[in-house]
Amino acid sequence: MRIYLDNAATTPLDPEVFEAMKPFMLEDFGNPSSTHAHGRKVRAAIESARKKIGELLNCTAGEIIFTSGGTEADNAILVSAINTYKVKTVISSPIEHHAVEHTLSVLAKQGLIKLRMVNLDAKGHVELDHLQSLLKENDNALVSLMHANNEVGNLLDIERVGALCDEYKAYFHSDTVQTVGHYQHDLQKIKVHGMTAAAHKFHGPKGTGFMFIRKDKKIQPFVHGGAQERSMRGGTENVYGIIGLAKALEIAYRDMHEHIDYVKGLKSRMIEKLRETIPGISFHGDSGNLTNSLYTVLNVSVPESEENDMLLFNLDLQGISASGGSACSSGAAQGSHVLGALYPESKRGAVRFSFSKYNKPEDIDVAVKVLSELYKVPAQL
Ligand SMILES: Cc1ncc(COP(=O)(O)O)c(C=O)c1O
Repeated sequence: MRIYLDNAATTPLDPEVFEAMKPFMLEDFGNPSSTHAHGRKVRAAIESARKKIGELLNCTAGEIIFTSGGTEADNAILVSAINTYKVKTVISSPIEHHAVEHTLSVLAKQGLIKLRMVNLDAKGHVELDHLQSLLKENDNALVSLMHANNEVGNLLDIERVGALCDEYKAYFHSDTVQTVGHYQHDLQKIKVHGMTAAAHKFHGPKGTGFMFIRKDKKIQPFVHGGAQERSMRGGTENVYGIIGLAKALEIAYRDMHEHIDYVKGLKSRMIEKLRETIPGISFHGDSGNLTNSLYTVLNVSVPESEENDMLLFNLDLQGISASGGSACSSGAAQGSHVLGALYPESKRGAVRFSFSKYNKPEDIDVAVKVLSELYKVPAQL
């Protein structure tokens, strides 16, 4: 049996979510924009999914716009907010997901914005004093900082950053793809203007997500077309994706406390066992810290060794699916831009293990055993 420890890349679909989606794949196939009964039934289901998400995040249903996932939502908010508010300076960090990093570098290359990078501390956390001084120097800025880093798991104090952006009247976008469905977001407390989610990160279907756009900070549409999504995102809706997304979020909130306890338990088990078995082991970013990082992600830093290059390949051969960095570029030979930014000189190996409710404590024990054997006994391939 293979062991799946790459849940930051994507999670398996919850069978309860699949059951909720099934009728919309078979019987309820109408186009939600059609005004006849087939269409109206599906429209009503989409609107109740939107309402449910709004209730869970403590925002209005109208502030939720469905998209094809996290990447589209990040692109839409960044491009459209910059355009709508005539933003000239964007403050971001070098460890954002490519959905943000590449979007901003394209805009900077086109001469549309000036990019300012916030300083990170030794563990990769945003230095809030530096953020404040950048905000002071740059009027009408847009701040784009992720709530949790998908590679090293570092958590941002999103409430503090929201309050700072509010003080300096900056637009605040946060990529919350790794935290929606894993933490509670109270959007009456968090002063974010635009944030993003992808259902497949919390046991929902792939290819569906949403953006939250605060109602008093509207932006122009990014995808032009029909009047779907209140004219904010043209195109026939991914109906069963949206139904699955809302169901997955509902389950996530229903089970949040026990889910956190259980998954955090898996992570701390792995930290302990790795410390016992591999001398010199450490953890990239702040992922070894259970409070300041995602409970779903552990980025293991193994001491320099010749077999480090083959680590992931060998783990895979031994039946363990893990990742070296961002899953969105898995298969690509290039190293992680996040680890490159945090540890430019390091020759240590990196394995990102990420956990879900479907992992068992035994999965952790097997993964630690395999990693320690691979590390001690170089693979003879
Ligand atoms: C932090 C973060 N942002 C954005 C994305 C992109 O989301 P999607 O795959 O839904 O486009 C991911 C996916 O790995 C992610 O981890």
